[in-house]
Amino acid sequence: MECCGVLGGSCHALGVQLHRMSTLDLFEDMPPAEEAGQSTIAPGAMLLHGFSLACDAELLQAIEEVLKQAPLRHMVTPGGFTMSVAMSNCGGLGWVSDSSGYRYSERDPLSGQAWPTMPVCCLELAQRAAAQSGYQEFQPTACLINEYVPGAKLSLHQDKDELNFSAPIVSMSLGLPATFLFGTTQRKDRPKRHRLNHGDVVVWGGPSRLAYHGVAPLADGVHPILGHRRLNLTFRCVG
Ligand code: SIN
Ligand code: FE2
Repeated sequence: MECCGVLGGSCHALGVQLHRMSTLDLFEDMPPAEEAGQSTIAPGAMLLHGFSLACDAELLQAIEEVLKQAPLRHMVTPGGFTMSVAMSNCGGLGWVSDSSGYRYSERDPLSGQAWPTMPVCCLELAQRAAAQSGYQEFQPTACLINEYVPGAKLSLHQDKDELNFSAPIVSMSLGLPATFLFGTTQRKDRPKRHRLNHGDVVVWGGPSRLAYHGVAPLADGVHPILGHRRLNLTFRCVG
């Protein structure tokens, strides 16, 4: 992939060091090659196995820079619960939650400043993943950064705070594996469970754009780059 940069560097904000790694180190906990490729998990929803693997060091360095300016924080839901997932954003708009509701904001409420710019390597990778899944000309305006530690979870929900549902959601997984729950547009339908590994990208749009989805409580483990954590980047066109 053309966005691949150096594989060395440091990632202090993420609390990890990215050592110069051989290709073997990078891939050793990945699924065997015969599982590589892509699968359709629901109509209009694709799981692209290992799609961001070749860019992971560059992605993580870019996110490190974003998080220096807009640190991860635990937002509070309108119902008064503190979310177990820590969040931040980059791009023109960022998703926020507080006692008054969920919304997209041009500014980080912690600093009062605009959210950091969406790194070009992240934007281009999201666009390539969307195109690979049949969604051409994806122009995301928001990138939500989610950090999960063991036990953190995201309850079943629909992504419906956007003004326009014609664009897909692109979701990149880094770090510890997670169990992604992906259902239909009906809450009563039991969601299917999909393992998301480091480097996997999920794209959902069209008939699945408003599908219920969530993340089961993260199992503990140690990822060679991210340690006891999972990072997820979701790209959205807010409209
Ligand atoms: C989300 O639904 O916004 C995030 C999903 C994930 O962390 O995989
Ligand atoms: Fe979501």
